[in-house]
Amino acid sequence: MSGHEFQSWFPESGGIDYDDVSTNITEATLDELRSIADRYPQARSALLPMLHLVQSVDGRVSPAGVKACADILGITTAQVSGVATFYTMYRRRPGGTHHVGVCTTALCAVMGGDQLLDRVSRRLGIHEGETTADGTFSLERLECNAACDFAPVMMVNWEFFDNMDPQKADELLDALAAGDTVQSPRGATLTSWQDAERVLAGFPDGRADEGPTAGEASLLGLRVARERGWQAPDVPPPAAADDETGGAQ
Ligand code: FES
Repeated sequence: MSGHEFQSWFPESGGIDYDDVSTNITEATLDELRSIADRYPQARSALLPMLHLVQSVDGRVSPAGVKACADILGITTAQVSGVATFYTMYRRRPGGTHHVGVCTTALCAVMGGDQLLDRVSRRLGIHEGETTADGTFSLERLECNAACDFAPVMMVNWEFFDNMDPQKADELLDALAAGDTVQSPRGATLTSWQDAERVLAGFPDGRADEGPTAGEASLLGLRVARERGWQAPDVPPPAAADDETGGAQ
């Protein structure tokens, strides 16, 4: 080795932790997993929300959760773990009550995303991919969250916090640490990451309408267009196909 090492942006990369066999999965959980599978014409399409339900129950993708998904869907545990370890929203190890994400992709980076991540990391005393000793917070560097008009953004339990700066980040973390009620400016009141995972599995908690559907920055262009009478140009009809294959050569 030359002394240089490849640094992964996905510190959680690695396999399912088969040494930790603890689980809270019950017969009721299995029934809910089956109910998710029943929603889809092809049952295996249900794997992603099923894994979210496993996370809501076990705080991670547990070995018992992998087996339950495989058994219900009639696929192998290797196929389940292959999916669970591909997507960054699935955890291999338990996280914090509140999962904090800081976006550092282009627009958020330009607006201070890296400084924000550094501030949050110092404030919590952990690096990205880690969880605080008291289990309250885990921290993740996020790729673009499609909220660039509110850059730089943080997320807590997948709810947005817009136009952040270090001081606002401190206040947010302090409020969460104190157990105060915190509501996303464009979303629901925060409860916990595991609660949010249950919603992602398709079990609504009734909070979906707590925040506005779109923020001012997202609606500004629409309002200006309306004021000025701007219209989207007509879309020309598709060119007639030259032959049955579409005519392109
Ligand atoms: S770059 Fe951060 S939300 Fe798009």
